[in-house]
Amino acid sequence: MEKTAATAIAHPNIAFIKYWGNRDPELRLPANGSLSMNLGGLLTRTRVWFDPTLAQDEIWLNSQPLEGAARERVVRFLDLVRGLAGRTLAAHVESENNFPAGAGLASSAAAFAALALASTAALGLRLDEAALSRLARRGSGSAARSVPAGFVEWQPGRGDADSYAFSIAPPEHWPLVDCVAIVESAHKAIGSSQGHLLAATSPLQAARVADAPRRLRIARQAIWRRDFEALAEIAEQDSMMLHAVMLTSQPPLIYWRGVSVELMHAVASWRREGIAAFYTLDAGPNVHVICLPEHAESIQRRLRDFPGVREVIVAQVGGPARLVEGQG
Ligand code: PMV
Repeated sequence: MEKTAATAIAHPNIAFIKYWGNRDPELRLPANGSLSMNLGGLLTRTRVWFDPTLAQDEIWLNSQPLEGAARERVVRFLDLVRGLAGRTLAAHVESENNFPAGAGLASSAAAFAALALASTAALGLRLDEAALSRLARRGSGSAARSVPAGFVEWQPGRGDADSYAFSIAPPEHWPLVDCVAIVESAHKAIGSSQGHLLAATSPLQAARVADAPRRLRIARQAIWRRDFEALAEIAEQDSMMLHAVMLTSQPPLIYWRGVSVELMHAVASWRREGIAAFYTLDAGPNVHVICLPEHAESIQRRLRDFPGVREVIVAQVGGPARLVEGQG
């Protein structure tokens, strides 16, 4: 009898070259390639149990039953996994994040990476890393990047078969630190799934996508060479290009708050002072400040003292999605 339960953990990730817009929203085939680092220390732990006595899927997130559209999204994902395994059993899913709920940190990447691994393992499927990344992509695009370790690139691919992420350097290659300045904990009004649909309404999206191979090349080489200044410049430009598209979508998506803008100015001036730090922002107002480890203490202090910053969450470069032994 195959194993019917498994537990997996996965880290969220922060993109230096961002994914925004899909060529195919159903398959989540991205408009452009992207590149990120996993956020070690922050994690989602997911236990999946397939149970013949269940009439329907039961899904719990942080000890609360998931309902409505969020539940449907997970059920649709489990249907994909059941399809792969040729099974119809309902599942019990329990998922916990070790980072504060509602801190405005994107958790879907870690959630679907952990769910992809735990659910396939629970049904006795052993997918290789690329296949797991492709599967995680179907739940949330950025989840494809939470499957491999360390610094990760997601190649857009020609289709479903070759749109997956792979590691370009292991976590120990470069000990970068992400100090996340939490400026707002409310849930965002427009989530990324809806945001991706709006990307094409901005006339700037085509230029952002056409230029992506250049930004990816610079970011990849900066990581390989551990060239902080080169990574800082290209990641900040990429973040600005993402937000330029968001701001010029119809309707416009204005994710920044005033303090987000103040923080961008501050980080740029700290860098001019000689502190190795740069900023990047996703679909929300929180500011990720990436720095070298020798500056992490000073950055945390400056961020905690910054008016409007509620909390600072710190993460190092993280490993891959993995099964947790002995808890299945
Ligand atoms: O994976 P999604 O659909 O939540 O999209 C992530 C979008 C950004 O966080 C804004 C950029 C990225 O590449 O992570």
